[in-house]
Amino acid sequence: MKLNIALLAGDGIGPEVIAQAVKVCDAIATKFNHEISWNPALTGAAAIDAVGEPYPDETHEICMKADAVLFGAIGHPKYDNDPSAKVRPEQGLLKMRKKLGLFANVRPTFTFPSLIENSPLKRERIEGTDLVFLRELTGGIYFGEKGRLDDGETAYDNCVYTRAEVQRLAKKGFELAMTRSRKLCCVDKANVLETSRLWRETVQAMAKDYPEVEVSYEFVDAVAMRLVQWPNSYDVLITENLFGDILTDEASVISGSMGLMPSASVGEHTSLYEPIHGSYPQATGLDIANPLATVLSAAMMFEDAFGLTEEAKAIRAIVDRSLSEGVVTEDLAGGKKAYKTSEVGDWLAKNL
Ligand code: IPM
Ligand code: MN
Repeated sequence: MKLNIALLAGDGIGPEVIAQAVKVCDAIATKFNHEISWNPALTGAAAIDAVGEPYPDETHEICMKADAVLFGAIGHPKYDNDPSAKVRPEQGLLKMRKKLGLFANVRPTFTFPSLIENSPLKRERIEGTDLVFLRELTGGIYFGEKGRLDDGETAYDNCVYTRAEVQRLAKKGFELAMTRSRKLCCVDKANVLETSRLWRETVQAMAKDYPEVEVSYEFVDAVAMRLVQWPNSYDVLITENLFGDILTDEASVISGSMGLMPSASVGEHTSLYEPIHGSYPQATGLDIANPLATVLSAAMMFEDAFGLTEEAKAIRAIVDRSLSEGVVTEDLAGGKKAYKTSEVGDWLAKNL
């Protein structure tokens, strides 16, 4: 099969982790007889530095023409402490999500048997966790009108949702639940927020079409607590943009390292695959960042974007082996030998 992949390395450790995913994908292509054409393009701070814009039109063209986008990370500390910055790397990510119509962000959380002790949570609480967040990604407070009033003394960010936006996300949630344990949790704050009441009402109406799915409605504050108490009581969770952003970082603690969690963003145009971790500026250029979240994002890409299940399985199997054989970066080494980012990538590609 011919695979045309847009490669957006981005900022910080992005290029380092992406390079390892490329090694693994190229090894898969050789093993399974595919031909990958990699199309690199600029995003984030790297794109601002080069052309003054974090998601240039040229990058968008490349993404639109590709079969899938593999993405590293975005963000640079020089913008974080400068609230007056006019262009910010993160705007590139938001613009990309909007322009590609990526309204659903799929973030699975699972545990690795060999890493259970890495989680700060107790084994008996997290063992067997296998849940998926479907985070709404192109609406809500991230994209509502924002601004300042009273000479800058007052700031506002509007949270807006339409029924259609909730429906298309919830539809994916119900469909996903049907392929899994048939449990769906709608996470909201319907005791306070009108947008949440619209979410709940919409999901309640849709539930009638999916009688096999057991639907629950929980407030986001309660979910934040139960997620770390009894994570394995959840299956599929659907939620709005900001709640999903916060809860998926929290959920990554269950797996023991943020450096392990992949994600997919899907919607109207080309789907995008990226690790959930950020650009980790402190580690940039040190060859120490964990590449596994990006490698596992590539596995999601093979499975979901190309329908290549065996290839995805092969990637997940070699990642499992690297974890159980201790071929891991310093975040997972636990006092034992820590491998470099590039060494982990080489090992994965060689042993596939
Ligand atoms: C994420 C990130 C982004 C978000 C930032 C970088 C804009 O935290 O993908 O979760 O908030 O969506
Ligand atoms: Mn986030």
